[in-house]
Formats: sequence, C-alpha cells, structure tokens
Amino acid sequence: MRTQVAIIGGGPSGLLLSQLLHLQGIDTVVLERKTKDYVLGRIRAGVLEIGLVNQMRAAGVAERMDKEGIIHHGTVISYGDDQIGINFSDHVDATVMVYGQTEVTRDLYAAREAMNGKIVFDVEGVQINDADTDAPYVTYTVDGSEQRLDCDYVAGCDGFHGVSRQTIPAETRREYEKVYPFGWLGILSETPPVHDELIYASSDIGFALCSMRNANLSRYYVQCDLSDKVENWSDAAFWDALKRRIPEEHADNLITGPSIEKSIAPLRSFVSEPMKWGRLFLCGDAAHIVPPTGAKGLNTAASDVHYLSQALIKFYDNGDQAGIDGYSAKALARVWKAERFSWWMTSLLHRFPGQSDFDFKMQQAEVAFLKDNANAQAVLAQNYVGLPY
Ligand code: PHB
Repeated sequence: MRTQVAIIGGGPSGLLLSQLLHLQGIDTVVLERKTKDYVLGRIRAGVLEIGLVNQMRAAGVAERMDKEGIIHHGTVISYGDDQIGINFSDHVDATVMVYGQTEVTRDLYAAREAMNGKIVFDVEGVQINDADTDAPYVTYTVDGSEQRLDCDYVAGCDGFHGVSRQTIPAETRREYEKVYPFGWLGILSETPPVHDELIYASSDIGFALCSMRNANLSRYYVQCDLSDKVENWSDAAFWDALKRRIPEEHADNLITGPSIEKSIAPLRSFVSEPMKWGRLFLCGDAAHIVPPTGAKGLNTAASDVHYLSQALIKFYDNGDQAGIDGYSAKALARVWKAERFSWWMTSLLHRFPGQSDFDFKMQQAEVAFLKDNANAQAVLAQNYVGLPY
C-alpha cells in the first residue's frame, strides 16, 4: 500500500490530522493498535480551547460539538476558605468549550468513515522504517498477515507508549520528566454538575476537581495516593472525600449517585525533544505529557496537529518546506508553555506528601497574590483558555 502521510495512532490527534489533510486532498492511512470500541471507551478530559474548537469547525466535524458542548466563561479556584472566580472575558477575548474528548474522537471517526478514510484497526508490531531517508515505510501485521505501507511522511500520534518516539535514536532524543507523588481518582456519574463552572479546589486533605460533560453527567476527581487501588474506593468514600475538599456551599448542594466509571490516573510532566526526525513527526502524547490540572493534554496535541497539518498542506501545495523544517521548534515553543502552566496549577493546588511548611506558605502566598491581583488572574485566564497558535 502507498499513501502520502502514514498516521500512527487513531486517537483524536491522528484522526484530526487525517481529516484536515483529507480536506486538502492529501491522502493518509491511519494505523490503530486497538479497536474503535476500545478507543471510544477511554474517558479523558473535557475542556476544549478555542484553537481546537476552531480546528473542529475547519475540519467539518463541529456540528454536534456546537449543539451539545457547553461554553464556559470562567472557572473557580478554591483554596481553603478562599474562592477566586476567574472570569475569562474580564481578561481575554475567549471562552472554552466543555465537550468530552471521547465525543471529539467519536465525531472524528464518523467523519473519516463518511469520507471513506482508511483506518486500519488491530494492527500489531508497527515499525517505522527509514524515517531518516526520502523513502520511509511502515510495516505491521493485521490478521496475521504482514503489511507494508510506503509513504512520504509519518505522523506519530500513538501516545506515550507508542513506537513513534522510540523510533528516534536515543542519542538524538532528550527527555525531560517530572513524576508527581500522587494520582487522580476520577468518577463519572449521571448526576447534575454541582456548579455551572468547573471548580478546582485545594483543601487541607488534598485537591479535588468538579467538572462535567452535560446537564446530567458529572465528572469529579480527588487527589489520591499513588498506592491507592480503585477497587478500594467505594462510591461513598469518594463522595465523602470530594465533599470535604470543596467549598461548603457546593458540598451542601452536591447531588451524588452511583459511579458509572471510576479510574486512577498518575500525574506526570514529560517532554521529548526533538518532535521531528527526518520524515517522522511526533504529535501529542507521543512527545509530551502534562498533568491534567488545567486540561492541556488534548489541547496541546491539537496545537501540534495544527502546526503539522499547516506545514504538510503548504508542502503539498507548492513545495514549501519551511513549515516542515520548523515543525519541531514551533510545536515545542508552545508545548513548553503548556507544560509550565500545567505544572504551575498542579503545584499550586495539590498537597504534596512531605511538603515543608515553607513550601506550604509559598502556595498560600501565591493564592493570596492571585486573589487580589487582576494581572495574575489575567495570566491564569490567558493560559487556561489557550495560548495562541
Ligand atoms: C475533565 O472534565 O475530565 C477535566 C476537566 C478539567 C481538567 C481535567 C479534567 O483540568
């Protein structure tokens, strides 16, 4: 088989890239290790920056998002007894869209399928070959038969555990990592959200987040120990932990119910440089991970897809290589800023095991400054709604 751009990974980045390129007449093949049901079973974050919202619209896949997504004009930061409302429009001319990553992925699959986009599921043993030459190709097996896909370029959208990053020789790669000493225990419940904005709450006993998917579907998280097991957290224990971490007025109004999903995620900051090696480009989690505080994971993958799709579209349109050559530097410049923001929000709002009194005072001072300072609030708002592409 031959295509112009081989895309490794059928998550939201790979599908969005495939769709944007297709609309400009560029042929792609998407290779996915799992099944579609598996990909759509993963629950991920749910806040879309305007840049991603606009890309969904440009990709012609925004109809349901624009109907069912909820525009948010602000968010609440709660720290101890303080509540700080961050009203985005007071500071920036932008909002965010609350719409689940799973729904983004579902809409992208529907669009790719409607246009007969080639997506191969259940592929095994993917190898990216000769990416440092002018004739890269990808080999894999599907249904026990060996396949070869020749291409001009390879887009590695296969996540943190994928083969794409590992294809770049170790001596060429530089990795930066910070692992946080706690996780997030999350539940999904068919209950109305406790508030019409997201609440990021820090309390004496740790962090909690109140988020949502729609008027009758809530997503809540509490900071947990890395050693915690999901099966040891009953729904009752979860609701109790959540109530004790959020402002009293919200705790009193919280409607609880059975969880329909419950999982623990570790928190990590990670960047691998460069994001391009020969004819291989990395996008999203294949190159970088952020802790979920601030909801930058999918959004940062989306800015990579923006830079890469633009670069490839220009190249196929008129042979202009500048975007391709500059992809890694351009993507990384924005990635590092999203890393900084996610690290900052994580550091500000969690209780760290063994945290010194001094470090605790630093958190308190930072919050006190944020509470009284419109500039500090503007910086938070700017980053939260998303830095420009
Ligand atoms: C979510 O709704 O799952 C969510 C929202 C905001 C975050 C993280 C996760 O910062």
